[in-house]
Amino acid sequence: MTVAPPRRRKSARRQRLEGAITYPIDWLEERSGLIGGLRYFLFRKVPGDTNWFHTLGSATLTAFLVQALTGVILAMYYQPDPNTAYQSINHITNDLTLGWLVRGMHKWGASVFIILLFFHMARVFLFGAYKYPRELNWIVGVMLLVFGMLEGFTGYLLPWDQTAYWATVVGINLNGTAPILGPFLADFLRGGAEIGPDTLSRFYSLHMLLIPGAIFALIGLHLYLVVRLGVSSPPWSGQAAGSDYVEVTPTTDGRSGLTQPSARSGWRRNGGES
Ligand code: HEM
Repeated sequence: MTVAPPRRRKSARRQRLEGAITYPIDWLEERSGLIGGLRYFLFRKVPGDTNWFHTLGSATLTAFLVQALTGVILAMYYQPDPNTAYQSINHITNDLTLGWLVRGMHKWGASVFIILLFFHMARVFLFGAYKYPRELNWIVGVMLLVFGMLEGFTGYLLPWDQTAYWATVVGINLNGTAPILGPFLADFLRGGAEIGPDTLSRFYSLHMLLIPGAIFALIGLHLYLVVRLGVSSPPWSGQAAGSDYVEVTPTTDGRSGLTQPSARSGWRRNGGES
């Protein structure tokens, strides 16, 4: 029989320190329940055989947050006016403390974000994680992809240099060739018959308000669905997300079975409580 070592009493200083940390947390929890909500969100059961590929979604989220943060800093100095936009970008890059770094992070981070987005999407596709019951989350993901690309398109014009201008001319003309809606779309993007001051302020507003707002909202919905449905196991796994390990016997429910259908239905099929 092993005897537990005597518990050492905490020193008064340590008790005071712990109290200083736990008191505000308890205060907030008692009044809002937010801490419980956060705990529910962060501490969930995931299948034991999730792997590094499952971190690509969080990596994409991190890249997006870096874009949001650096974008807010850039917006403090950028001027969306054809006469001063280019100079303001030069000013950020050459005169401001660490301006080159913030701008560089935003510019290259945009590519990192899109690349991670595609890697994450490829993981979901190749693992079959888009199947029942996660189809809705795939659809939300597709919307995120569209808004992510739009964010890149609208941001590209903002430096207002030759590359930005002509790339936007090409982009808008491409949209203009779409059947029926094309000409309206091109007019909407230009903000008139020609690319000019209205186009720049329109793109700026879309780039720093409307599209990021939509992306934030969609990410919220995306993560809600991830929490609700649980993370799917890799295709080769026998485990169901959200349940303790139970050997899965093949069922005849007609699904090809690349992934476990869901946390709950997997649990029930294995004889667990509902
Ligand atoms: C801003 C873009 C995105 C962010 C921040 C994001 C974030 C995440 C995170 C954190 C997860 C959970 C962990 C993981 O499985 O990696 C996840 C899961 C998922 N994502 Fe995304 N995602 C994005 C875009 C997309 C796109 C473009 C698609 C597909 C078109 C997609 C489809 C899914 C699906 C179906 C799941 C559930 C996967 C599973 O349960 O195994 N997501 N996403």
